[in-house]
Amino acid sequence: MVRVGWQASMSYEPWNSFPPEHVPVMREEVVRLLRCKPGGRFVDATLGLGGHAWAILEKIQPDGLLIGLDRDQESLEYARAYLRPYSDCTRLLHENFKNLPLVLNNLGVKPVDGILVDLGVSSYQLLVPERGFSFQSEAMLDMRMDRTQRMTAADLVNDLSREQLADIIYRFGEERCSRRIAAAIVTAREQARITRCSQLAEIVSRAVGGRGARTIHPATRTFQALRIAVNQELEGLDQFLANALQFLKTGGRLVVISFHSLEDRIVKQSFRMLSGQCVCERPPELCTCPRQAVAQVVTSRPLTPGDAELATNPRARSAKLRALERG
Ligand SMILES: C[S@@+](CC[C@H](N)C(=O)[O-])C[C@H]1O[C@@H](n2cnc3c(N)ncnc32)[C@H](O)[C@@H]1O
Repeated sequence: MVRVGWQASMSYEPWNSFPPEHVPVMREEVVRLLRCKPGGRFVDATLGLGGHAWAILEKIQPDGLLIGLDRDQESLEYARAYLRPYSDCTRLLHENFKNLPLVLNNLGVKPVDGILVDLGVSSYQLLVPERGFSFQSEAMLDMRMDRTQRMTAADLVNDLSREQLADIIYRFGEERCSRRIAAAIVTAREQARITRCSQLAEIVSRAVGGRGARTIHPATRTFQALRIAVNQELEGLDQFLANALQFLKTGGRLVVISFHSLEDRIVKQSFRMLSGQCVCERPPELCTCPRQAVAQVVTSRPLTPGDAELATNPRARSAKLRALERG
């Protein structure tokens, strides 16, 4: 999601300056695929600043209910203010979506008509320097979506072994120079603790040098890897998707938007598994996949943003949307 008019150089106080405009990714497609209708009950598992939630709320009036979760307390407070006109029909909670079963049990709300999961970080998190996600910032190397969590990116960078760092940078950043980068980090931290985003970006840039024809900043993949590791973004995602399905009505839909290949691979495999398809890619006589369909894949290929959307929201370029319907 992009907040129009916002620049990284502006100082930003979440509760005093309200974001002027929200541009949620593939908003029309989300509402259409979720089949939002008056009286419907929906979960936005990654509320962010509430852009998709607003679009859903518009469609479920009257008598609808939207349960919104985010692990980022600041984003949640923003969304709460933004969605105030709909406060009677929203329940907004500071929660990791992996706790969705518990949340729905506690609220006594199940089953629901649809669940949206818009993975990754929001523009707010990326663009506000103090959150420490951006390699362009002088801020502390933080990267926690949930600031009540203790471990930050600086802890990983300073405390992990060279092998552990290389492994994270390779697995979660798909970075070919992972070993070289890990070695450079270890050498640099022997002189002084690495605490700032810009400090790490410089270490990585020097380690990578001019290797490979890169169209992106040399630190992009390393920052992505650390962010995924700090927030344990991929851990248990497949289990969450399987659990989420159990809370849908028959015919209810799970819509997932992912932003990088590692996430999309998990979503794709989970959807294949839940719709009774083979995921092991072995010859049929050796396949041991359960092949028990509890859902159907609605999007045979992932949907991606069209040219018009990309012209106004270039950050959406890597988005892939997949939908699954409970059988
Ligand atoms: C791409 S943004 C969502 C933007 C939102 N759809 C909108 O229109 O404003 C992703 C959000 O999901 C949150 N998030 C990521 N992983 C989460 C998790 N496991 N549990 C809860 N929230 C999570 C992030 O804090 C971030 O605010």
